[in-house]
Amino acid sequence: MENKRIRRIGLLTSGGDAPGMNAAIRSVVRTCIGNDITPIGVYRGYNGLLNNEVAELNARSVNGITSHGGTMLYTARCDEFKTEEGVKRAAQNCRYLGIEGLICIGGDGTFRGARDLAAQGIRTIGIPATIDNDIACTDYSIGFDTAANTAIDAIDKLADTMQSHERASIVEVMGRNAGHLALYVGLASGASATLIPEKPVNFESDVIEVIREGHYNGKRHSLIIVAEGVGRTNELAEMIKTQTGMETRVTIIGHIQRGGSPTARDRVMASRMGHFAVKKLIDGASSMVVCYRNSEIVATPIDEALQMKKDLDGYMYEVAKDIAI
Ligand code: F6P
Repeated sequence: MENKRIRRIGLLTSGGDAPGMNAAIRSVVRTCIGNDITPIGVYRGYNGLLNNEVAELNARSVNGITSHGGTMLYTARCDEFKTEEGVKRAAQNCRYLGIEGLICIGGDGTFRGARDLAAQGIRTIGIPATIDNDIACTDYSIGFDTAANTAIDAIDKLADTMQSHERASIVEVMGRNAGHLALYVGLASGASATLIPEKPVNFESDVIEVIREGHYNGKRHSLIIVAEGVGRTNELAEMIKTQTGMETRVTIIGHIQRGGSPTARDRVMASRMGHFAVKKLIDGASSMVVCYRNSEIVATPIDEALQMKKDLDGYMYEVAKDIAI
């Protein structure tokens, strides 16, 4: 028997926002319309399903949003959705609203919700979007490139003034408990040392010594990148000052990394993933995550995806260390 063609697809963003989410939303909406499917925007993540905060979208609803960070559907975390009753109620509301399939844009928490909803009979597809790039089933998550470039731009500006005062600069970048963003930014910004949760270090031998050596070899400025999962930036600054005599300043870049106009990479990746997600629902798939793996866009079952662990890029860590001399 031919699969009943899907006619109405919901989409939502959940968890921490990421630049490029709007490009994914635009791609989902336009792909739906091109396939004679009604796209339904769900506002404020899973809360929107529980509170029926939804609106039918059309091609004009997503005009000009590609170049804007953030998410036009807003986002929020939803505790009620973590309960069985909450998931059941959301599934009921989907059926009441005629939402036959749902595209959930966000991180691992978003995918756990999508998996639970699929178990209640609502077909779901996840799209990976988090600046942390810590989703194991995909080599790339929407938002990472933009956040990295935002941090690098800030660090390049910092380098001007730190150089002028011959100071050490400690910069904390986001990433929650992962070091992918910090490592990438550290390599790109020429850091003397990059501290990440996956690679515990001894401040004395791995940082102070490196700064001393750099200073001895004529470095007028030392940059240390610290992932927020490591923290201890003020303690480190104090150590550098007392043990090397170098004046030191701490900068925590913070939420600026979550905003800004998405880079071309994020816009293109988000557009490809959004299109692919709709096609998977049309093909009858459910409880899958769209992934970028070996330069291809593929789909992985959510259960499998959530079991996977994302390893650090060990070679990138080695390169960053070796060329920091
Ligand atoms: O997960 C993305 C992220 O930006 C993390 O890097 C950061 O630790 C966290 O979100 C901050 O969360 P919130 O926006 O709720 O403060």
